[in-house]
Amino acid sequence: MRGKFITLEGPDGSGKSTIIKLLDEFLKDKGIDYIITREPGGTEIGEEIRHIILDNDNTNMGPETEALLLAAARAQHVHEKILPAIESGKHVFCDRFTLSSLAYQGVGRGLGIENVKSINDFGLRGVYPDLILFFHVDAELTLERKTGNLEGDRLELEGNLFHKKVYEGYMKLLKLYPKNIEIIDASKSIEEVLEQSIEKVEQIFLERND
Ligand code: TYD
Repeated sequence: MRGKFITLEGPDGSGKSTIIKLLDEFLKDKGIDYIITREPGGTEIGEEIRHIILDNDNTNMGPETEALLLAAARAQHVHEKILPAIESGKHVFCDRFTLSSLAYQGVGRGLGIENVKSINDFGLRGVYPDLILFFHVDAELTLERKTGNLEGDRLELEGNLFHKKVYEGYMKLLKLYPKNIEIIDASKSIEEVLEQSIEKVEQIFLERND
């Protein structure tokens, strides 16, 4: 049986990374066959591309280049890791996927959701998440959690205006492409956020594949 493909999405500062670590412990304890991976990156080639994308020295990078590099890393990820794992019956948990590009590059960088979707679709071989956990915190809280953080990569250090656009982009995408998206209220305590996430994951594990 094919494994499930579960992605985790949300703006910077949504607390996603903390929950992924806790989910990892939960899945391990349950003896579930799974892998956890992340974007940009996830493969050797992808991690090299990640370095180029996030490098603070790359101040000259054009938005189209950024979007294409992300799509290239993602295509390699699907080819080398995600698809083989799903086909061998492993569940795949991925920290960010295409929805991030639609929000950050499509809306944040202003490239247009449809343009970014089409360059991504080319490399995806029809792979679409069975479940997208969207970690929702309102725009103010996201920016508040980020304020004062002077360290960070090229994207994290973008100004508040960029991150506000990304947030609005996500809100638009939830309406445009609601398929398989479950919204997690990430303003709650870590325990509650983890509980909400586990509930959705367990539901998807129970669903049979078509
Ligand atoms: P990362 O350190 O993984 O951040 P986070 O913990 O917030 O996921 O850095 C990834 C950064 O790259 C993050 O700011 C979001 C951004 N990003 C895009 O702009 N487009 C994408 O398609 C992806 C996958 C990430």
